[in-house]
Amino acid sequence: MKSIPLYVSLVALAACGGGKAKTEKPGGMMDKGGMMDMKMGMADPAADTAPALAAAQGYASWAKFPENQQPKKSEGHMGMFVLAFHNKVVGDAITAKTLPLPDGAVIVKEEMMSADAKPMSVTIMSKQAGAWYYVKASPDLMKVMTMNGMALEGTSVGMCKDCHDQGSDNDFVMTHKFK
Ligand code: HEC
Repeated sequence: MKSIPLYVSLVALAACGGGKAKTEKPGGMMDKGGMMDMKMGMADPAADTAPALAAAQGYASWAKFPENQQPKKSEGHMGMFVLAFHNKVVGDAITAKTLPLPDGAVIVKEEMMSADAKPMSVTIMSKQAGAWYYVKASPDLMKVMTMNGMALEGTSVGMCKDCHDQGSDNDFVMTHKFK
């Protein structure tokens, strides 16, 4: 990706505003220094991230959640438009209404500036060894996105967990209630 999408993503972050603050824990990243200090960039994925990126390949042909058939304005992801896809492991859990999701469950969410724009990034949740592996990646799944130089990849990415931990009774998934 060239520099323009990165600039746009910074604007999207800066625009995130008050709605975001509601979901932010005191002392979380939104409290410190404000959004304008955030610099988004891209880096090569860590070795541990390869399985999550491999598992996400071809996601655009996967099923969508009943609640998110079309791009919708995100409630958590920086005021962007989002469209989430899930693999069959997740689909089976939706049908059977079972939690927690087993290893092999993968959810990929596209992030767009508007409902009909191309994705500027994707976020991935990949269940591995009983835990969600979080990644924010470039749409071609080749690079991980960084925030202030920190790669957004791993099982304990603060900025992802701060929010998704609020869905702990639903295996940390926001878009769909399994039970
Ligand atoms: C400010 C809160 C917040 C943060 C930070 C956040 N998320 Fe989310 N996430 C949400 C919400 C709310 C949804 C439901 C869809 C929506 O409104 O965007 C969601 C949806 C998702 C989905 C679709 C599956 C689901 O749970 O609904 C994925 C995948 C995802 N996020 C990954 C990530 C990753 C990876 C990060 C860190 C880089 C991250 N999220 C950071 C709040 C957040």
